[in-house]
Amino acid sequence: MSKYLVANWKMKLTIAESAALARAAREWYEAIAHPSFALILCPSHCAIPAVADVLKGSRVELGAQDVAEAERASLTGATSPLQLRELGVQTVIVGHSERRVNYGETDTLVGKKTAQALSAGFHTILCVGETAEERAAGKAEEVVRRQVRRGVGGTGEGDLIIAYEPVWAIGSGTPVGMADARAQAAAIRSELAEVRGASGASLPLLYGGSVDQGNVASFTAGLFAGTLVGTASQTPNALQGLVEALKNR
Ligand code: PGA
Repeated sequence: MSKYLVANWKMKLTIAESAALARAAREWYEAIAHPSFALILCPSHCAIPAVADVLKGSRVELGAQDVAEAERASLTGATSPLQLRELGVQTVIVGHSERRVNYGETDTLVGKKTAQALSAGFHTILCVGETAEERAAGKAEEVVRRQVRRGVGGTGEGDLIIAYEPVWAIGSGTPVGMADARAQAAAIRSELAEVRGASGASLPLLYGGSVDQGNVASFTAGLFAGTLVGTASQTPNALQGLVEALKNR
């Protein structure tokens, strides 16, 4: 599948709510005869087993919001890629700005997580994006180039996807404008070409930050291959709206 709708439920839903929303999402998605996009649900870690049960035998994919940088290590509170694999997880997100900002994840750590996730065989979504302050200081491009370089530089081959998520657009109700999106996508692609060669430049790019039913289609064609959605993926009405908006595309 070359287009993506990735639902990031963050820590917003209980285990029971996650299972119920996954059950509904499975129905909406499987009612589409020939979906043109992959639907990937990323519940919080404790809800993964319940959602995995609901998605058994489904075309809806299971993702995780984070993964540790090692398989077995003294990392209290962390989740091993081996455990995620045992639960049937296919996709992992690394380097989300909420991990970078709230838990101090550095570019170096994100690079190790990306390498680990790729070598464990996950579809790996690496998030990059500038803060409002960095943009105001004229550093937006420099920041995403650095995050791409350090996030991808030491990794081997694998199924890598980059998500451009400007931090100021996340949860703000204001998505990026197309001119800025174009400039940042070009910066990301050019950096990918430098660290990964020609194959890097053609990796899929996602967009995340205040995506909803009204704008999801514009980020699922052309510049971007799809979206990473928080708020609008966390309630039945909003998630159904996203699926509906993409179903005839
Ligand atoms: P949002 O979050 O859709 O609520 O802006 C996106 C994200 O954090 O991935």
